[in-house]
Amino acid sequence: MKSYSVKELLSKQPVGDTVEVNGWVKTFRSNRFVALNDGSTINNLQCVVDFENLDDALLKQITTGAALKISGTLVESQGRGQSVEILASKIFVHGAADPETYPIQPKKHSLEFLREKAHLRVRTNTFSAVMRVRSAMAFAIHSYFQQNGFYYMHAPIITGSDAEGAGEMFRVSVLDAKNPPLDEKGEVDYGQDFFGKETNLTVSGQLEAETYAMGLGKVYTFGPTFRAENSNTSRHLAEFWMIEPEMAFYDLDANMDLAEDFIKWILKYVLDHCSEDLEFLEKRLLDEEKSKPQNERSDMALIEKLKFVVDNNFKRVSYTEAIDILKNSKPNKKKKFQFPIDEWGADLQSEHERFLVEKHFKCPVILFDYPANIKAFYMRLNEDGKTVRAMDVLFPGIGEIVGGSQREERLEVLQQKISELGIDEKELWWYLDLRRFGTAVHSGFGLGFERMVQFATGMGNIRDVIPYPRSPQNAEF
Ligand code: 4AD
Ligand code: MG
Repeated sequence: MKSYSVKELLSKQPVGDTVEVNGWVKTFRSNRFVALNDGSTINNLQCVVDFENLDDALLKQITTGAALKISGTLVESQGRGQSVEILASKIFVHGAADPETYPIQPKKHSLEFLREKAHLRVRTNTFSAVMRVRSAMAFAIHSYFQQNGFYYMHAPIITGSDAEGAGEMFRVSVLDAKNPPLDEKGEVDYGQDFFGKETNLTVSGQLEAETYAMGLGKVYTFGPTFRAENSNTSRHLAEFWMIEPEMAFYDLDANMDLAEDFIKWILKYVLDHCSEDLEFLEKRLLDEEKSKPQNERSDMALIEKLKFVVDNNFKRVSYTEAIDILKNSKPNKKKKFQFPIDEWGADLQSEHERFLVEKHFKCPVILFDYPANIKAFYMRLNEDGKTVRAMDVLFPGIGEIVGGSQREERLEVLQQKISELGIDEKELWWYLDLRRFGTAVHSGFGLGFERMVQFATGMGNIRDVIPYPRSPQNAEF
């Protein structure tokens, strides 16, 4: 007897065949109808249990969450809502799920509740849909780069450098925390640590990706990154996945073109390959929005919003123009921003980014040419001496989704910057070597994978688009 996934049975419909399928019980109605799901699709397969003498002990075990193997004949369905169903002739219980204690019951659970049951939440429709979309997006990202002449580069996860210079790193150490060795100054002596120096989990693979781009031409990283920033928001994780393409001979314009094309391609892929999950997520979102006041509801349903991004040009605006718009904006004049904008040089907060995207331009925006002193040390200084060739892609509902730049390729300018910031040149000797040997214009950016999944699935909290979110005070599982 052939074993099929639920998805195969629903799409191939081998009516008349005797088939076998495994899965978990979603619901069991009238002691007769099992809705079975195995994760292969958002849709359940109806199995009709119609035995003459259904064993009572077996019947008791068919409850929500139980794992079953069902064999029987696939027939056209009599009921509404499904095309085929199985007339079960045999049921094997892999494992029961005690209804008294199994937490995922066939009713609406809050996302907060499910976060505490993160090991079981993937059995809900919402999380299985999100995780299938996440998987498809990861595949789409690799396909995009592989088709466009990029090489996948694995940047190290343990690193001795702070790529973003923000000092928000998780230390990696094997020293005895209670009794670490000390040097003459009484400081912890990392010379005696595993690597003979202080090391951390990486915040970004960019610096190493730059070295590879200056040999392979076009590379990308796609891996976990770690930030010990104490940001308890719906857009921050302490462990998140980042995609970082880095390209030799690309200037900022080429970098922006790539970012836009890349993002559109991922969303197009999801629209083309995840339509059933998107339809489900769209319906979920509409239900959720019903409980919100009219003015907080979004103008577009999920699928329409994704299509809008795919079909329209992103608006490119310089930081200086953006500041003018913000300075003269209604919320700024009415003192509605938590951080008022009164002069050039202010760092943009997510409230400003969202105003520009959601209220002013009403489309994705790429801001470029930021003030040097609010951006990282490696960005290329413009002729004006005060702005750098930075770019951020801002998305509705999300804010910053991509951060990137053209890199400073001039040795002296970079050395000057490093010394101004008080960074020891010795720590970046290898990075500076790139500027000594065959330096060239180059650029890259980082896309926050979870923020992208958030946008594609419409999930409001970043903790609901990664299997096991890591955030301050939370590393369960
Ligand atoms: O803007 P960021 O900090 O840029 C970099 O790390 C550069 N080295 C990238 C590069 O040029 N190669 O981070 C890039 C993106 C952000 O735009 C955001 O989408 C995401 O990473 N991100 C986070 N996502 C989740 N949780 C956090 N704590 C994040 N911090 C950044
Ligand atoms: Mg950034």
